[in-house]
Amino acid sequence: MLVCSCNYITDTDIRDTIVQLLNDDCWQLIVPSKVYHAMAKRGRCCGCFPNVVDLIIKTTEEYHAKRHSTEAEVVVYMSRLKQFHEENRRADIERRHQGHRAA
Ligand code: FES
Repeated sequence: MLVCSCNYITDTDIRDTIVQLLNDDCWQLIVPSKVYHAMAKRGRCCGCFPNVVDLIIKTTEEYHAKRHSTEAEVVVYMSRLKQFHEENRRADIERRHQGHRAA
């Protein structure tokens, strides 16, 4: 399925890149820009980033389920990852609202 129409990136491309990043360091925080950088791509309109965030969370959960990471490690990591993305999502929304205000 095509996720990024600006760069013609599919969900499979994104999932594979996320797994490669997790193989390098399975506890790193992965953000869309890190995934795109690893693929030598750039966000253009960035309209796909919310879907990329969902793929990051789902792929990371599946990755740790297969690795038999301890449940406590995964719970802490996933809550940090979700909190990080939620804060970024709120900041993006706030920036968009500020960008449309009349001066
Ligand atoms: S849809 Fe991905 S950068 Fe525009």
